[in-house]
Amino acid sequence: MFEDLQPTPADKILALIGLYRADPRPDKVDLGVGVYKDRDGKTPVMRAVREAEKRLLQSQDTKTYLGLAGDTGFNTAMARLVFGPAAELTRIRAAQAPGGSGALRLVAELLKRTRSDATIWLSDPTWPNHMPVMRAAGLQIREYPYFDAASGAVCFADMMSALATAKSGDVVLLHGCCHNPTGANLDIAQWAEIADLVVERGLLPFVDIAYQGFGEGLDADAAGLRLLAEKVPEMVVASSCSKNFAVYRDRVGAAMILAKDGAQADVAMSQMLSAARAMYSMPPDHGAAAVRTVLEDATLRADWEAELEEMRLRMLRLRVQFAEALRRQSNSDRFDFVASHRGMFSRLGLSEAQVERLRAEHGVYMVGDSRINVAGLPEDGMDALAKAIVSVLD
Ligand code: LMR
Repeated sequence: MFEDLQPTPADKILALIGLYRADPRPDKVDLGVGVYKDRDGKTPVMRAVREAEKRLLQSQDTKTYLGLAGDTGFNTAMARLVFGPAAELTRIRAAQAPGGSGALRLVAELLKRTRSDATIWLSDPTWPNHMPVMRAAGLQIREYPYFDAASGAVCFADMMSALATAKSGDVVLLHGCCHNPTGANLDIAQWAEIADLVVERGLLPFVDIAYQGFGEGLDADAAGLRLLAEKVPEMVVASSCSKNFAVYRDRVGAAMILAKDGAQADVAMSQMLSAARAMYSMPPDHGAAAVRTVLEDATLRADWEAELEEMRLRMLRLRVQFAEALRRQSNSDRFDFVASHRGMFSRLGLSEAQVERLRAEHGVYMVGDSRINVAGLPEDGMDALAKAIVSVLD
């Protein structure tokens, strides 16, 4: 049965987890998988989430099925978190999904059902799992240029020229904030231009928002998405709670639809839920129930927001410290862009061979395209790290 199968190459990001764990060097540095870490390298359970879990344990009196859309209170709370506290939800539907990847796949399945020849445009570069997820749903893929490696900024003019060639009905996948892997983000004026283009050419925006609260703040990070929602007739969204609630392994996300009217939203939602039924039936409850408990309770929510803000500010501080150390060690401003990027990642612009040397010679782990997880930067070892990076440059 399996004799004709060939082993598949490991996922570039997830493979780093095993490699790092197996490295015995005590001073190794983990800048790989996108998981928030504190000063001690730990990924703590957030205070409000822990309290919510305690409450759930005490109050939950059944584990009977919830239904295909999961926790409806969670879905409403997530729609408000993403689209804004005052958003009109009549045209919006949300379905709990197993993590951000589950939400992406659910939306992709809906797109395939609504338009069997759909083409989806992905940013070049993008998160390495975007392509496999879209391909698995049967969508055709095109790419638009996004990142200018020399300046470390978005190459917006090139991006817009490429999208201007998209056909009516094509889908454009946009990172809502904190672009993964580059850390270079669209400003609000650019989002407005994208909204105009999308409307003019009849494209469908698909926003993947997996790091809300990690860039400029919870509302600021959703500003581009909210601007689109005001201007476009239809859009789809995949959101994740993995990072901003730190519930990575519990798999919590939401797939959302903004339709032309409530009736169309209901039909699209029914199609999306039937896709869920065929893939995994119902999403896991626990993590989403904890998130819902936090979002619905004013005290827990305030504490969650405060802790999230501490995490965001820590990453910003680390960015500045790292850029300064790189400036000192390289005697150049080559890496200054790290301080102006936002979110969990920046792409340093090293070659695969240089990344490999960093791993082999210095125990520094980053993704092969030189993406670093800013939260993993060693507060007390910035210069040593910067020195190691500079040492592999030539
Ligand atoms: C990442 O980009 O490192 C995270 O989103 C983890 C993953 O699943 O790839």
